Amino acid sequence: MIKRPIGIFDSGLGGLSVVSEFKKVFKNKRYIYFGDTARVPYGSKSVETIKRFALQDCRFLLSKDVAAIIVACGTVSANAIEELQKNFAVPIVGVVEPTANKAVEIAMNGNGRIAVLGTAATIKSGAYEKAIKKLDDKIDVFSVACPLFVPLVENGYIDKPATSMIAREYLEDLAKKNVDAVILGCTHYPILSKVIGEVFGESVLVNSGKEAADYAYALLEEKEVEDGEGEYYVSDEPHGFSETANVLLGEDISSCIRRVNIEEF
Ligand code: DGL
Repeated sequence: MIKRPIGIFDSGLGGLSVVSEFKKVFKNKRYIYFGDTARVPYGSKSVETIKRFALQDCRFLLSKDVAAIIVACGTVSANAIEELQKNFAVPIVGVVEPTANKAVEIAMNGNGRIAVLGTAATIKSGAYEKAIKKLDDKIDVFSVACPLFVPLVENGYIDKPATSMIAREYLEDLAKKNVDAVILGCTHYPILSKVIGEVFGESVLVNSGKEAADYAYALLEEKEVEDGEGEYYVSDEPHGFSETANVLLGEDISSCIRRVNIEEF
């Protein structure tokens, strides 16, 4: 059997939170990461544009001969996963189903109540609600778009009073609903776990990146994946990406980042 790397993509650098979970389970396996830093954010775009971008992102990764693709981006997973699975022959794992599975498992042993946090496009798609109701239609789902969280993270506002204030503004009503699980349905939100946890308690937070990485590991038998290191591609200037990677992954990856013209794919 020829072993190949795994592809992982996101609209930008937030997907590094998924890479960090991927590395915990896949250990020293080779992966190719693509971050569409020239066209981020996806969360405020139309479904048509999200699908077009996601198809290009997958075509790029497939040009690197990946064995499977993990869609780290919550927005793409919620709006374009079927389109991608229809168009490409390799396994394509999104974050929605694995995360819904985990949240339902928790809620079934609690009050039967789940909160979903995501970008505007993720919440508008209703994808989490559909996936949850498919598993158990008696579960109550409360969905809230938190559009300011992404720019806060991108600007380094991780643990600042302004971020806590905005989190309370978005989530205070939701905190009164007595939910069992809070789905962090966007790549950037696990980075705000501490601040979001101040509202709900960190123990109820469900990290979509972790669930997707665990699911992909169970699906893709470790044996099929090539050993090696990560390679990183971005569609804009690599400097900011490399700085964030230092913080999120705790390693200097500046020598493994290359720029690619995604419009060619
Ligand atoms: N990566 C996106 C997601 O997980 C967040 C950033 C964006 O809006 O593109 O939904």
